[in-house]
Formats: sequence, C-alpha cells, structure tokens
Amino acid sequence: MCKQGASTSKAHDQTASPPTMAHLKFTVNGERHELDLDTRTTLLDALREHLHLTGTKKGCDHGQCGACTTIVNGRRINACLTLAVMHQDAEITTIEGLGTPDNLHPLQAAFIKHDGYQCGYCTPGQICSSVGMLKELQAGIPSHVTDDLLATPQFTADEVRERMSGNICRCGAYSNILAAITDVAGSQPE
Ligand code: FES
Ligand code: FES
Repeated sequence: MCKQGASTSKAHDQTASPPTMAHLKFTVNGERHELDLDTRTTLLDALREHLHLTGTKKGCDHGQCGACTTIVNGRRINACLTLAVMHQDAEITTIEGLGTPDNLHPLQAAFIKHDGYQCGYCTPGQICSSVGMLKELQAGIPSHVTDDLLATPQFTADEVRERMSGNICRCGAYSNILAAITDVAGSQPE
C-alpha cells in the first residue's frame, strides 16, 4: 500500500464511531420480542434479519413496490420506509401471523382459490395490504377516487385498484388479486 493510502485508512479508522444502539421491545405475531439494534435498522431488516421472519419481502427497499407491507398497530405500512426504533411497544403482524397452513386467513385462502399470484414474491405484501385496505374502507377513510368525500366510500373495483396501487405485481396477477379481495369483502359484515 502506498504511504498516502495507509495514512488515509488510518485517518478513517480514527474517525469511525460505533453505531448507536437501542433496546427495542415489541410484539410480533403475538410474541413479545426484545432486540438490541443499530438505530439505523429498518423495521423490514429487523423482521427479516433479526427475527428471521422472511415472509415479509424486500423488493425495492425504497417504498415503491409494497412487497414489505406489514400491519403495525392495525395499519398497513411499508416496513422498508420506517426505522424499527420508531415502533417501541408496537403490535406488529406479518404474513406469518395472519394464518397458518391449517387455518388460513380468509384472504390467504382467497388468493389461493383465485390464483392471485404467479411467482408469489409480492403476495405476502399484497395480502397484508389487502387486510389493511379493507379495514380502511370499512372505517370510511376516503381515497383519491372517492367521489363524495362526505359519504362512506363504497367497495368498488376502482376503490380497490386505487387503494392497492402501492403493491406492484411484476407477474401481472392484478385481475385475480382483485377477484380474491372481492370474494372476501363480499362475505365480510359491514
Ligand atoms: Fe418496501 Fe419495496 S421493499 S416498498
Ligand atoms: Fe410475481 Fe406478484 S406474483 S410479482
């Protein structure tokens, strides 16, 4: 190594500081967890790399695909866009917590019934997003395509497409995803 390179590397070593750590407690899929994490860790990396819940997918890691959608305190969020330390004491549900192979969540069963996937990479995010989206609709939260902002938004294909527009499927399974969501929404109480 040249003399200049050696001194640059030494200077870098002297300025490098250890990461700031935080002690995090939260509940994931009904199970209490405590983690010591670098404060820069996203919720997505905490779930996948530290708790090994790899059902939540990393697609873009930039908030553009929805593959990482999880449900935090009842609301759907992109886990790649939020730091884990922002969720102290939160109740988090991932695709692993929605149902089991023997006892599927209605949306999981509907995605299978309607072939709402091909490769399946986007599917956990699509299903978690669908769960959150239906709750938002039932709560009367309007979207950009809701005509009358003073009336309760109706369950329509346009509303579902708009509300699911943050979840990208590169396989293009959109029509079957819509069929699966419609199947479940049709059987849900108002
Ligand atoms: Fe989070 Fe794409 S991985 S939105
Ligand atoms: Fe392949 Fe959606 S099923 S990306």
